[in-house]
Amino acid sequence: MTTDTQRSKQEIRAAVAGIRGSYIATKRDGYFATALDRLIATNEQTAIAEPVRFTSTGEARGIIVVDGAGGGKTSLVQRGLAMHPGLKPSETSRPVVSITVPNPATLKSVAQEALKATGYTGGEKKRTVWEMWELLRERFKMLGTVVFWIDEAHDLFPHGSKSEAPHILKTFKSLMQGDGAVIVILSGIESLWDSISFDHQVQRRYSKFELPPVTASTDSNLIWKLMVSFCERVGLEPPKAGDLLERIIHAGRKRFGLCIEQMISAIEIALLRGDTTLAAQHFADAFFAQEACSVSDNVFLSPRWSSIKLIA
Ligand SMILES: Nc1ncnc2c1ncn2[C@@H]1O[C@H](COP(=O)(O)OP(=O)(O)OP(=O)(O)O)[C@@H](O)[C@H]1O
Ligand SMILES: [Mg+2]
Repeated sequence: MTTDTQRSKQEIRAAVAGIRGSYIATKRDGYFATALDRLIATNEQTAIAEPVRFTSTGEARGIIVVDGAGGGKTSLVQRGLAMHPGLKPSETSRPVVSITVPNPATLKSVAQEALKATGYTGGEKKRTVWEMWELLRERFKMLGTVVFWIDEAHDLFPHGSKSEAPHILKTFKSLMQGDGAVIVILSGIESLWDSISFDHQVQRRYSKFELPPVTASTDSNLIWKLMVSFCERVGLEPPKAGDLLERIIHAGRKRFGLCIEQMISAIEIALLRGDTTLAAQHFADAFFAQEACSVSDNVFLSPRWSSIKLIA
């Protein structure tokens, strides 16, 4: 079924951008806020946040956030840090400094990226790597930095003998100690934890925050409500339930972010076609566009969809 007066592409783009831009808070946000709160103390008089010191030597702690690709790690940490009342930036302070791991990831390139993220514009060429990390520590102190967040942190720890992983971990450890210590948050795919958890010092200093997989038994209500609300917002009739929800979860590799992305892609296709009801076919076409697979491997078309193996 199509509408008499089809919406312009521009209107559709705006409608889709509207749903894509909205953050959906779930239980995961509450759990992350709790994990963060454990590490941050807020001075009641000044409302200024600072890392909780966990040892008599004044060590802060960190969090390692892991989930599969597209699970929603970046969104979750970004939102969690932005919502924390003690981490609001001011004209003179920068309580959160965040970077995405540069490529190639070396002690030097990470220090350069972090210095840039603190707003540092001076030249680094004449400094040794050690001096750059010292400068970073000074910048953190000056800016009242509480959290240093490193996203895509799995790229810091490639396999192979050339990896600077042990040095990087030692450097983070020293940033978590002493005057001006910061909380280090690392986020990345599952291999991040596997690459570094063998280290006893890592296990002691960081808590692992693993985003649980989406399952039909625990999350079908949430996913379904989301789909209905997305449809309402863009003026589409929601699809018939059937086993569509289970297929979405399977096609989304049980990852929250990928489930959302599929719904939005299917909605976009429906709107561009001028259809008034969201249907399984829109999901199937979105899946074709994303995965470039055959009909028999399309989770939304195949009767044996649940046994289709998807590339991680
Ligand atoms: N709570 C949420 N509300 C709305 N959209 C979300 C939410 N969490 C994730 N998404 C969406 O899911 C997609 C994947 O999220 P995100 O980029 O945060 O995942 P990621 O795990 O960091 O992915 P990658 O492994 O590629 O870095 C994005 O389009 C994002 O907007
Ligand atoms: Mg990410």
